[in-house]
Amino acid sequence: MDRADLVVVANRLPVDRVVDTDGTETWRRSPGGLVTALEQVMAKTDGAWVGWGGKADLDIEPFDFEGTLLVPVPLSAEDLKYYYEGFSNGTIWPLYHDVIAAPVYRRSWWDAYVRVNRRFAEAAAEVADQEGFVWVQDYQLQLVPQMLRELRPDLTIGYFHHIPFPAYGLYSQLPWRRQVLEGLLGADVLGFQRVADAGNFQRSVRRIFKYPTRANEIEVPAGDGGSRSVIAAPFPISIDAQAFIELSQRPDIRARAVEIREQLGNPKKILLGVDRLDYTKGIRHRLKAFGELLDDGAVTVGEVALVQIASPSRPGVEAYQDLRDEIELTVGRINGDYDTMHHTAIRYLHQGFPREEMVALYLAADVMLITALRDGMNLVAKEYVAVRTDNRGVLVLSEFAGAADELTTALLVNPHDIDGMKDLILRAINMPEAEQSRRMRAMRRKVLENDVEAWGRSFMKAVDAVRNKRATGAPI
Ligand code: G6P
Repeated sequence: MDRADLVVVANRLPVDRVVDTDGTETWRRSPGGLVTALEQVMAKTDGAWVGWGGKADLDIEPFDFEGTLLVPVPLSAEDLKYYYEGFSNGTIWPLYHDVIAAPVYRRSWWDAYVRVNRRFAEAAAEVADQEGFVWVQDYQLQLVPQMLRELRPDLTIGYFHHIPFPAYGLYSQLPWRRQVLEGLLGADVLGFQRVADAGNFQRSVRRIFKYPTRANEIEVPAGDGGSRSVIAAPFPISIDAQAFIELSQRPDIRARAVEIREQLGNPKKILLGVDRLDYTKGIRHRLKAFGELLDDGAVTVGEVALVQIASPSRPGVEAYQDLRDEIELTVGRINGDYDTMHHTAIRYLHQGFPREEMVALYLAADVMLITALRDGMNLVAKEYVAVRTDNRGVLVLSEFAGAADELTTALLVNPHDIDGMKDLILRAINMPEAEQSRRMRAMRRKVLENDVEAWGRSFMKAVDAVRNKRATGAPI
């Protein structure tokens, strides 16, 4: 097998399997944010990507896809149940999102997490070139940095954490809190979304291991009696803003935006929510606020419509099944009370859409509602801002989304405060154009400056600093 100087390790490969009409199977680049984010970093070198192929028991040889070597890691149905649905999405996901749902601690899930993380580490160790760089992604693979360091001490290892890292008071619930920190500390550079996430991580390391920390550096004892320093710092992720702007200028997509408004019966204002169907996203709180505004007569059907895209997610996890039932019950009740033959209160779509349709929706939306109870970043916020080239439109953004650190001129909302959220939604609906423009302009500047390329560059700069120190024999 060819070896690669840059290896990305992520739970999923950057491709989806598609079956053509004649039954042949091919691969198509997946539309996700992570893929776009890393695409530009990968394009500069002969890279490899280690990840799961998206189907249980898929055991195929590494293959080339558009210049990147894809290395599939097979996962059995049981691995998926215990490692993916279990430990990753039933334990870590709710714990790291401030226990919005109750985390479940099961020893069999942990065992599977260890076993599967080792499989990913072994695959990466096999494909990485001598003294190459391996970049591990996200919470499903927190043990990989340490496992990989043991297998291949010559490598430089990065890790990026796409979701929040919780305060010690919550993190300390985890029965395997030491092992997870040890796993992460195997990296040379650890990236987090927000200053607060990096801070929470450092505090956990201090509390549990008493390792000294200085600014972004943690001194970790090395086997030889010396120590090595690990960088733990914020690198807020972003989007390919230019690509979104280009889509927003396409005549067919602009025409589609007009058509969407017509199809909704030409309401004066369109409110939009776009989320994976996840309990972290605050969809229930948003629906509650909107439902009450209808009850109060503060908004009326026909004048205002809410479009809620809820893309299907993790259907095998019980908390997601319960959430879907709850949301669909609420939507059904509100629509039942307020719909007319011509208009709907909430156009609810439990579907995923291609990027073109998303951009058309962003262009059609007068108000974008992001009311997450906790969110690592929330790239939808940045996508909405990027496409609003006329500086119109209002972003209502949760304080608890990482994006709120940068998009400070959004209407910032505490989604737990339903009255506060109702007031803000009304303010967004009625905001004068001059104010919309002032707020949007400042946000667009941030997103265009700090795009995904800048994100990749700044992370790689930290990695190169480690590599240079190593090459010159300086202590790291
Ligand atoms: C979040 C996580 C990603 C994950 C994505 C989709 O954004 O940070 O790691 O890939 O959700 O979730 P899924 O479970 O379908 O991969």
